[in-house]
Amino acid sequence: MNFQRHRRLRQNASMRAMVRETHLSKDDFIYPIFVAEGENIKNEVPSMPGVFQYSMDNFGAELDEVVALGIPAIILFGLPHEKDAEGTGAFCEHGIIQEATRFAKARHPELLVVADTCLCEYTDHGHCGVVEGETILNDESLALLVKTAVSQAQAGADIIAPSNMMDGFVIAIREGLDEAGFAHIPIMSYAVKYASAYYGPFRDAADGAPQFGDRKTYQMDPANRLEAVREAASDVEEGADFLIVKPGLAYLDIVRDVKNNFVLPVVAYNVSGEYAMVKAAALNGWIDERAVVLETLLGFKRAGADLIITYHAKDAAKWLEEK
Ligand code: PBG
Ligand code: ZN
Repeated sequence: MNFQRHRRLRQNASMRAMVRETHLSKDDFIYPIFVAEGENIKNEVPSMPGVFQYSMDNFGAELDEVVALGIPAIILFGLPHEKDAEGTGAFCEHGIIQEATRFAKARHPELLVVADTCLCEYTDHGHCGVVEGETILNDESLALLVKTAVSQAQAGADIIAPSNMMDGFVIAIREGLDEAGFAHIPIMSYAVKYASAYYGPFRDAADGAPQFGDRKTYQMDPANRLEAVREAASDVEEGADFLIVKPGLAYLDIVRDVKNNFVLPVVAYNVSGEYAMVKAAALNGWIDERAVVLETLLGFKRAGADLIITYHAKDAAKWLEEK
């Protein structure tokens, strides 16, 4: 009988380790943190057990934990006290993200701070750009996004991550950063971002739900695959340094497409709704959380992600250490 004996390479743990194709490391992780204006805030997000909003007085302890676990980077999202039509809180010198960035860099200079560059947490209408009636204006929004990115860089952000999905945001921000003396600051572009129901828990966490309509005129249609390649191609041309695909789990084919078509580092965003589903099942005792999370994160790597933005980062870093 002539057949392949695939099981030869699976017969024990050492043999399996020898032929393992993909590896997960805490160097792959970027941990999202929600920072809030105010004092004495440490509010757990109801739909995201284990994830909190922190005011500055409680932020330090969280940062210390992240650094102690060996996670190299965080991405910050802000909850301002006040919102307005232009989202001025996003580019205010003493805005919540600017203050949190300065605080984090002073406390842990080696920890990389990624600044999410968007307006939706700061606009009273909750959209990612400025609006006229019910229309989200593209070019008018770019100027505000550039201001936001520059003020984040001035506060010490190591990486700028524009998530607003306006056309031309990469080149606008690149030129703005260069002119302001930040030619060395990379852009981690949310190149491929779908209009997804999986962002639901995040909108509770960041208080950023749109007050009218939805984001479908700027975020992508979940049905489209070729469009993802076009989106990523324009960001590469405009000068992006990293390409984010978001959400992650329902879009692993897109992660692979982006990996195969471009030669930049690919970042998968394991979003809030994906986290919430795992947490809910785990709290019910229906799945083995540790095994499921590590398998999922490994799946992102296998699909082609070089980095993973994930709310599981702290737990996963602990579990990887134990192994
Ligand atoms: C804001 C932004 C969103 C997320 C990251 N940045 C929400 C949205 O676009 O509606 C989602 C992250 C998550 O769900 O974990 N532009
Ligand atoms: Zn936004």
